[in-house]
Amino acid sequence: MSENFIFSGHDTVALAQKYGTPLYVMSEDILRANINRIKDAFESAGADYDVNYAGKTFLNMGMCRIVASEGVSLDVASGGELYTAVKSGFNPARICFHGSNKNQAELEMALGYKVGRIVIDSEWELERLRLLTEELEQSVKVLFRVSPGIEAHTHELIQTGKIDSKFGLPLSQAREIIGRTKEMDYVEAVGIHCHIGSQIADEKPFLLASEVMLDLYKELISDGLNLTEINLGGGFGIPYLPNDPSFDVTNYIPKMVDHMREMSEQRQIPMPKIVVEPGRSVAAPAGITLYTVGTVKQIPGLKKYVSVDGGMADNPRPALYGADYDAVICNKPQDEALMEEVTVSGKACETDTLIKSIKLPSPQPGDTLAVLHTGAYNYSMASNYNRLRRPAVVLLKGDRSAILVERESFEDLVKNDRIPSWLED
Ligand code: LLP
Repeated sequence: MSENFIFSGHDTVALAQKYGTPLYVMSEDILRANINRIKDAFESAGADYDVNYAGKTFLNMGMCRIVASEGVSLDVASGGELYTAVKSGFNPARICFHGSNKNQAELEMALGYKVGRIVIDSEWELERLRLLTEELEQSVKVLFRVSPGIEAHTHELIQTGKIDSKFGLPLSQAREIIGRTKEMDYVEAVGIHCHIGSQIADEKPFLLASEVMLDLYKELISDGLNLTEINLGGGFGIPYLPNDPSFDVTNYIPKMVDHMREMSEQRQIPMPKIVVEPGRSVAAPAGITLYTVGTVKQIPGLKKYVSVDGGMADNPRPALYGADYDAVICNKPQDEALMEEVTVSGKACETDTLIKSIKLPSPQPGDTLAVLHTGAYNYSMASNYNRLRRPAVVLLKGDRSAILVERESFEDLVKNDRIPSWLED
């Protein structure tokens, strides 16, 4: 076996040579194992449950096939994600359609495909859906997203369950607004939803949210609504750096199920079906990004910059959230004697720092560098900044590898460009 860095049984240097860099590499085996850990935790807790994989994390037609074959549902948050899923053959009945500002065309599309659930995010959206379903004489099952007023300890930009939030119905208005569905012919309320934020490593805010949700659930049932499910969203954190705290879903899920069972008994209501929408915890550890080191520059007396052939265009998270990542040089052993503290920077024409400070074994031009845990919110948030082409995505399964998404070409970059007549000569 070579000394090279191995990911999911594959030599990463060989992958970089075969497919080129920058390259997103996703492991189907890890994706499936992560989905199954969540399913197994629910099974062992004996709960009525569903898992909606959060498509915003990492979505393409191949990923939809993986999700479908695991028998779980899919959360989509735009017409584009919905289209991708349907185009891949995903069963629309297992799709849950989200979004805080769905437009008319998206609502029509969701009804046209007969998605299993629409999550209503505002009073205004409920009214639009009422009008649309009456016009089409078509029934739809809905959940209502509620803002439970929980402040989870995570980055401010990914905290979404606070009272001051664009997401969901304010808790104080939820009962009245959801109650209106009793008078509606085609909008059928089946549950309530919340998502308190992402990259949360502590189970307390989740347990607290489940209590708030169950209290509202009880009120709605006593108002005569025929609800059956509570969707608690996603948000399970993962360790990006070796010493980061990790969120143990196998421990948390049975605890949450027991807690909800106990609370339901106390409140004398039937235990609801529990739905979760994990994204990051499924996809992040299943992916790495491979780069080739180019320029290595020592600033005298200060630091060494190691520049790679990608950066904020394929991973905007460090620039957006100050997110930290771990990395290794794939073609060299992690030899302590060779370690130097460096900054890994990307190729975009601005600061573009991927990793502010990391010890790497004497990085040289031509080395292959792997940034770890990039499977979530990297490919899905990539841009063409500087007219960089989005990298290819390669999928690994056992000892096989195949292209999941082609690398963009220069032609792709100009294919939607048009020259207005007055600029033609
Ligand atoms: N369900 C809903 C309604 C959501 O809004 C989200 C994420 C999820 C589920 C999945 O959450 P997860 O399990 O991945 O934490 N771009 C940011 C993350 C934004 C999360 C948005 N919503 C980042 O790169 O950290």
